[in-house]
Amino acid sequence: MYKPALYTAANGLQRSDAHDITEEYAKEIGHMSGRCLDIGSGPGDVVNDFILPKLHPKATVLCSDISESMLNFGKSKYRDNKRLSFIKLDIESSDLPKDLIEHFDHVVSYNCLHWCQNMRKAFENIFTLLRPGGSTLLVFLANNPGFKAYETLAAMPRYQPYMKDVDRYIPLFQHTEQRRETLKSLVQDEGFEVLHCSRRERSYIFDTPETLTKFMLAVNPFIERMPVDLRSEYVKDLVAEAVKETIIFNKSNSNENKYSMLSRYYIFVLYLRKPIAK
Ligand SMILES: C[S@@+](CC[C@H](N)C(=O)[O-])C[C@H]1O[C@@H](n2cnc3c(N)ncnc32)[C@H](O)[C@@H]1O
Repeated sequence: MYKPALYTAANGLQRSDAHDITEEYAKEIGHMSGRCLDIGSGPGDVVNDFILPKLHPKATVLCSDISESMLNFGKSKYRDNKRLSFIKLDIESSDLPKDLIEHFDHVVSYNCLHWCQNMRKAFENIFTLLRPGGSTLLVFLANNPGFKAYETLAAMPRYQPYMKDVDRYIPLFQHTEQRRETLKSLVQDEGFEVLHCSRRERSYIFDTPETLTKFMLAVNPFIERMPVDLRSEYVKDLVAEAVKETIIFNKSNSNENKYSMLSRYYIFVLYLRKPIAK
């Protein structure tokens, strides 16, 4: 589903979140030394541009992802950076590589964990990968009203056959009650000490409908399953539904297709420690 080139051309929102959270946690990240693991590194730009410069100079990062194409893109683009290495890893795996157990001093993950269906397994694995005393900074989507567009289109007869598994692509916490409290209990159940756990509102401006379209298509898993002649209608309908969940401004008087949109969504920020003795 992820195409690295498409994704890097449309990930302004993810980069803006990464920039702001990394600045906020600069002191904590600066104390992260030794072996670090980044989960769901994608094309590698966020870890290279924002996280690595803030880490302790002696820290190295193993970038991990479930997607081969993302890993290959990052490996090739950042091959000269001796502090970065790459590995294929599914953070929901029930069979973690033995040599990675308790191998990491710190774990970070930005904009990935909302793709996990088995969140409990993901947190259990992060706990297992960390050495006792290690810390983890995790940032991921809590809920975004824009996902309503998926639900609306999946109920339309012409798109339904290609979107049967739509729930798989809607964040687990999209419809959860008491989101922050539920997440906090989950990580405490796995044994983590919670240093910080928040759910925050964020916003991002898409200057034009085209920027929103690119952003949505960069992570859309359904379109490639559709016959080619259905795709442009699908994109039009998808964006029209998503726009309904934004605040429209800067409308042009002369061109009805020219306007900007403010999108509001919520992210989780978690800063956790694995206790020395469980
Ligand atoms: C939205 S990208 C985020 C990339 C980067 N961290 C950033 O902040 O821009 C999410 C990445 O998570 C990866 N991913 C999704 N599920 C995963 C899993 N179970 N284990 C590891 N990586 C996963 C995807 O392949 C994708 O590259």
